Amino acid sequence: MKNLVNQNLILAMAFSLLLASCGGSQQAEQTQDSTAVTPQAMKDYIKDETKEERNSRMQWWKDARFGMFIHWGAYAVPAGIHKDSTLKQDRTGEWIMNSFNIPITDYEAYAKQFNPTKFDAKEWVRIAKDAGMKYIVITSKHHDGFSLWDSKVSNYDIMDFSPYKKDILKALADECKAQGITLCFYHSIMDWHHPDAQAPHYPDYNTDKKQNPNFDKYVTNYMKPQLEELVKNYDPAVLWFDGEWIPEWTEPQGKELYNYLRNMKPSLIINNRVGKGRKGMQGMNETQDAAGDFGTPEQEILEGKSDGLPWESCMTMNDTWGFKTNDNNWKSAEKLVHNLADISAKGGNYLLNIGPKADGEIPTPSVERLAEMGKWLKVNGEAIYTTQSLKNYKEGENIRYTQSADGKYIYAISLKWEGKALNLKNITPKEGSEIKMLGIDTPLKWSYDDKKGLTIEIPKELQAEAKRPCKYAYTFKIEGTEK
Ligand code: GLC
Repeated sequence: MKNLVNQNLILAMAFSLLLASCGGSQQAEQTQDSTAVTPQAMKDYIKDETKEERNSRMQWWKDARFGMFIHWGAYAVPAGIHKDSTLKQDRTGEWIMNSFNIPITDYEAYAKQFNPTKFDAKEWVRIAKDAGMKYIVITSKHHDGFSLWDSKVSNYDIMDFSPYKKDILKALADECKAQGITLCFYHSIMDWHHPDAQAPHYPDYNTDKKQNPNFDKYVTNYMKPQLEELVKNYDPAVLWFDGEWIPEWTEPQGKELYNYLRNMKPSLIINNRVGKGRKGMQGMNETQDAAGDFGTPEQEILEGKSDGLPWESCMTMNDTWGFKTNDNNWKSAEKLVHNLADISAKGGNYLLNIGPKADGEIPTPSVERLAEMGKWLKVNGEAIYTTQSLKNYKEGENIRYTQSADGKYIYAISLKWEGKALNLKNITPKEGSEIKMLGIDTPLKWSYDDKKGLTIEIPKELQAEAKRPCKYAYTFKIEGTEK
């Protein structure tokens, strides 16, 4: 809902009259000066933060390992089908406006229908928590420009534009607090709807031939005030930017935005898509001094460990971020567990996506997979959360290693059932120590010699699938050192 006050009032009224004469879509946003932090008072966090300060700011995030990505907005209404056309499998649901070149006013009709009466913040947060996820990153605004909170600088939001008229981010923020999970926001720099952003070039939103001369106005008068609202009123722990590839956005702007937000909330963590640093979908930085605290591999996992920059691999469970009726290409729970083990061994985080339906329901295949991951993590969480990586994060194709934060224990996560025995060449166990399989109390028999390495026996009683502590992957907890 708009807050048009004092000296801005007359100006804003005149502006809205002008916009009203330009047609429906343009009425949705107006300007308001950003007064949050004056440039003179800004601290340069990129230059002045020490490595120790950065590490301690990022510690909770690194320890968390596993988060839920939520792509939700007006695109859930068409759900991949516009008029008589269906998006191809490789086109994601949240891009439908662009993929079918839907004019702004036609797309607005979807936003007008977005009425998630079954949305239950408590249930969503419960599902994330039961999956073993430690944080949630939800789309405050995706490329389509529709905002999921009560924005004072926009009418193109859940309060003013849709029949729902309840602040989704507020409901989630309250629930996250109540249930003890960390809330974070995805936010698109690119905006296909705002008159001063990409929209005038419709349908060529992403061309690098034309630049939008008004883009700075959108940044100053709309994007930054919106971000200020998000930081001040909803207290996100991470801002996860995207849509930074448009030619209007530059690395200096990214750095300025990074500092602007950190000055507002010094503990904020911000991804590397705030600027122009990332290298394609692989997502790590091209240059050392790029803005942002972590790399963002998309739909992929780093080949090995990172050589410094923390990272988070974001991934869909099927092939789309925003809900699509026809996407049933689900990854198995086993695959998702293996991904989590692989990412953790390489020192990264896993940000796994759900795309809820327009009515607020989370698709059943997503709920089922998350529940399976939760069961696995209840047994094996010790090998995932708060761990660090070894020099050799893997052995062969099926073993992934992590290590407890104090360095005392090594966890060998086996991605398959090893049968009667597991042999490891990379680890020297401490003499006389116990080796256990997580989820089983009785210590396992083991032997070691320099040539053969470590052999851990897996007893008969555990061989039947039903007797094992979990499915998909099995963790051996070893007191010892890496060779
Ligand atoms: C992409 C897409 C977007 C999605 C995001 C998630 O860059 O543009 O739709 O939100 O990746 O990483």
